[in-house]
Amino acid sequence: MPDGSRRPEPDLLEVRGVTFKAGGRMLVDHIDLALRPGIVTVILGPNGAGKSLLLRLMHGLLTPASGEILMPGAGATARTRRGQAMVFQAPVLLRRSAKANIAYALKLRGVSRAERNARAITALEQAGLAHLADSPARRLSGGEQQRLALARALALEPKILFLDEPTASLDPASARAIEGVIGDTHARGVKVVLVTHDVGQAKRLAGEVVFLNRGKVTEISPAKSFFKRPESVPARQFLAGEIVE
Ligand SMILES: Nc1ncnc2c1ncn2[C@@H]1O[C@H](COP(=O)(O)OP(=O)(O)O)[C@@H](O)[C@H]1O
Ligand SMILES: [Mg+2]
Repeated sequence: MPDGSRRPEPDLLEVRGVTFKAGGRMLVDHIDLALRPGIVTVILGPNGAGKSLLLRLMHGLLTPASGEILMPGAGATARTRRGQAMVFQAPVLLRRSAKANIAYALKLRGVSRAERNARAITALEQAGLAHLADSPARRLSGGEQQRLALARALALEPKILFLDEPTASLDPASARAIEGVIGDTHARGVKVVLVTHDVGQAKRLAGEVVFLNRGKVTEISPAKSFFKRPESVPARQFLAGEIVE
């Protein structure tokens, strides 16, 4: 390559002018966002800002009213979301063992029976749940259930992992365990996109912060500068613990 310069890695996903409306309200308002590899993106903002909607739009669970969501390299606007996985705030688990919950998710993705078991075990290990592989999923504690939901997502071997307030209903110790798994996942090269309204968690995990308020992105900043001095007024108010206008 001339002068040894390396081309920057392409974005994994691009949101262009995306809007989402319901009941006559503009809930997601002309958002532009590029998801770069190698950095944890935290989407931060007050309740009702549109964080979950934005995540669902990126994951293809909702269709934008206008704009587009592109996965460069994957061809045109992505319809199928292979290469992505999502963990929701409240996990939905089947009445079977932890391992079988993961194996079932893999079956739905067309993974062969022989491979399902090995991938389930690896994912359980990554989530620190190997010792509970054969336990009924619904008898696990809240924190363990959420870690299982995370393991199930990891078993899909996504390039992008979307997490929607994955620790919102957990005690601090369980939340820290999940944060540990999220950090390890990032370190393995998976793009992590985390939605939270928890400033402490954002500080611990973010590489960059996308601040969302009333359906609009008010700023996208490197985490360091964001927490030192956010650029937008709503973000400043939010960090100061004030009611965001
Ligand atoms: N399917 C929907 N239909 C109508 N309104 C919705 C729908 N989903 C969410 N909303 C509204 O959109 C706003 C943003 O929701 P949401 O993305 O869940 O916020 P956040 O995750 O930031 O707390 C809220 O006012 C919510 O009530
Ligand atoms: Mg939400």
